[in-house]
Amino acid sequence: MRQMIAGFTLAAIAILSVTSRSAETPSAIRYLEERRIWLLEGDKSQYAVGVNAAGELIHLWWGPKLAAGDFGSGVIVPVANSTGWGENPQYLEFPAWGEWRYPEPALKVRFADGVRDLRLRHDSHRIESNVLKLVLKDPHYPFAVELRYRVLPRFDLIERSAVLRNGCERPIDVEQALSAVWHLPHLQPWTLSYLAGKWGAETQLRRADLGQGKFQIESRRGATSHQLNPWFALSGTGKAGEEHGEVWYGALAWSGSWKIAAEVNAAGRLQVAGGIHDFDFSWRLEPGAEFETPVFVGGFSPNGFGPASRQMHAYQLAEILPRPAAGEARPVIYNSWYATEFNIDVAQQIALAKRAKDLGVELFVVDDGWFGKRDSDRAGLGDWSPSKTKFPQGLKPLIDAVHGLNMKFGVWVEPEMVNPDSDLYRAHPNWVFHFPNRPRTEQRRQLMLNFARPDAAEHIFRVLDTRLTENEIDFIKWDMNRHIMEPGWMEAPQAQQREIWVRHARAVYDILDRLRAKHPRVLWESCSGGGGRADLGILRRTDQVWTSDNTDPLDRLVIQEGYTYAYAPKTQVAWVTDNPDGVNGRDTPLAFRFHCAMMGTLGVGGNLLRWSNEESAEAKWYVAEYKQIRPLVQDGLLYRLHPHAVPLPSSPAVAGSGLQAYEYVSPDLSQAVVFVFLHSSQLGNDLPAIRLRGLMPGARYRIEVRQPGTGDPAITAQEMSGATLMERGLALRLRGDYQSALIRVRMAE
Ligand code: GLA
Repeated sequence: MRQMIAGFTLAAIAILSVTSRSAETPSAIRYLEERRIWLLEGDKSQYAVGVNAAGELIHLWWGPKLAAGDFGSGVIVPVANSTGWGENPQYLEFPAWGEWRYPEPALKVRFADGVRDLRLRHDSHRIESNVLKLVLKDPHYPFAVELRYRVLPRFDLIERSAVLRNGCERPIDVEQALSAVWHLPHLQPWTLSYLAGKWGAETQLRRADLGQGKFQIESRRGATSHQLNPWFALSGTGKAGEEHGEVWYGALAWSGSWKIAAEVNAAGRLQVAGGIHDFDFSWRLEPGAEFETPVFVGGFSPNGFGPASRQMHAYQLAEILPRPAAGEARPVIYNSWYATEFNIDVAQQIALAKRAKDLGVELFVVDDGWFGKRDSDRAGLGDWSPSKTKFPQGLKPLIDAVHGLNMKFGVWVEPEMVNPDSDLYRAHPNWVFHFPNRPRTEQRRQLMLNFARPDAAEHIFRVLDTRLTENEIDFIKWDMNRHIMEPGWMEAPQAQQREIWVRHARAVYDILDRLRAKHPRVLWESCSGGGGRADLGILRRTDQVWTSDNTDPLDRLVIQEGYTYAYAPKTQVAWVTDNPDGVNGRDTPLAFRFHCAMMGTLGVGGNLLRWSNEESAEAKWYVAEYKQIRPLVQDGLLYRLHPHAVPLPSSPAVAGSGLQAYEYVSPDLSQAVVFVFLHSSQLGNDLPAIRLRGLMPGARYRIEVRQPGTGDPAITAQEMSGATLMERGLALRLRGDYQSALIRVRMAE
């Protein structure tokens, strides 16, 4: 941490404006009428679809830009359709299940007369600003599909979705309705990157080489899941890294059951189909009705995973995260869960709030245990009124105290849940998912409300609305500590019973949307036993995500790194908790814990009533430091300088070795902050030079490593050019176990 030396080079820089919505230009979509080809243009990417002689919509290209004239030249358009045992050489843009089509379809329906063969032919198109709408119709049945493409040129992203319309006089049963199929260029072999894990170990980057066959990531749980996350990236095997090589990637905006299937056919062509999971799914589409799929966003990066994730982060800040908070700083949180669990009362929470205020915390959150008869996880879920014993005067005295300390106030809720021991369950035992003649399986002693039932969903909306109306609550953490089991909804008509997977997730969205509309200044955090509900669908409605219940910083470095491949650091909440951590029983220095938690939205979760004066003083120093670098971390450009994940096929990331370093650069490139973590120094080896990225080569930067805790302005300060920082890099001396450093880089005046 004491010595730094650096050197010289030029490096490509990417400037992404992250503060405002894009000024979309109509030129992002071109229709080449004579050739019946649509070209969707990103800044560095291109996507093309066309119509073949049979009227089918054919995928032509997704990748770097080609000359428009080359489309339809025979080089780009595949050879004509043929019959036989081979693979169909024409790749349907939105394949329906029918005729000579065996790969994963986007769509599978059953018409009322029993016909289960669907054919889609191009009918019409519309271009509205940067949105292309392509309408396909069945030649016999009045059934139409509108494919939507919203082009976001500056992020090289396309949002795809589909709307199904039943023009028949009888219902249609939809058995599979994915959002999109992405066809990749004919390059092989391919490596799939994806995010996998389990409770306490979410979003770890994994890699798998793809061969002929299907590799599917999915959730059948009615929620996003801890195990797999709806994000993928594809690159030629061994051909892409953080800052080089072509990467195609995408993410689903959906928080119910989902699947993403990467399928290599016998000819070596790869397609990726994704959307709402078809498992146990069926949707009764009534005459005149529509069904809209969630958005599946896809992007292309010519220069590796780093730009791919920076594009995703900038897109989320500009397009996904709810307004008006998207561009605002996320407050520093104190959450009392790990400190107190269910044993809370007003006086103790006020005492914690005062300590939190002393550290510089801006938002005080009361977690589980404040409501009903919630003295343990055995009772109370569903009864969202303050506990009469713990908060005899309601929440107001605590809220007033917290506001009096000039902090925001937040609470935890788990609206989809009931304990069997709750007034709500006793009043409405049929509101939970269940089948007759089967036990109601509990997890964490709770059952799940069926929000497909409008009465159950409306009740929860009203209760939350009332709490928000009668109290000045600034923040809500919406948790989900189990997923759907025994998905019975026996009161519904038979044909609709399998709609629960979609109806429940949509009802969660609807409740959040309505509450946000009525209480626009409330911030929301998505949680599902940690990071079990992190996806672009929930991020349209919640401002941040509780990344994992695991707060061991070594594990968090792995979980948080994986998370950043798909999601913006600003949305990632991390708390500093007490030694030993609850998962591995490990002790780590306060500096290491803080540095790790400072790489997203910072929180503190330790029992502050037990912290020594020295610990509190040191913590206060980090919180102040965090507030200074917060705009870079929350709204800047992330470079994973030394990521943990290694590109080994199928290998789970293994925590606890080596060096990790991450850099956040301000959008105007005038500042950066670098976090360096060393698990343990070994054999007296020096660290490799840490080369920075994304700076202005010709600018002079001042580099500062500050001494934690003392308030000293700097223990080391040097000045050098951006080029030197990027070429020779920084030489740090870190010795010992769990060492970390925070390096500030600022353009010299
Ligand atoms: C889940 C959450 C935790 C905490 C507890 C409360 O496990 O992930 O952060 O809120 O529930 O019961």
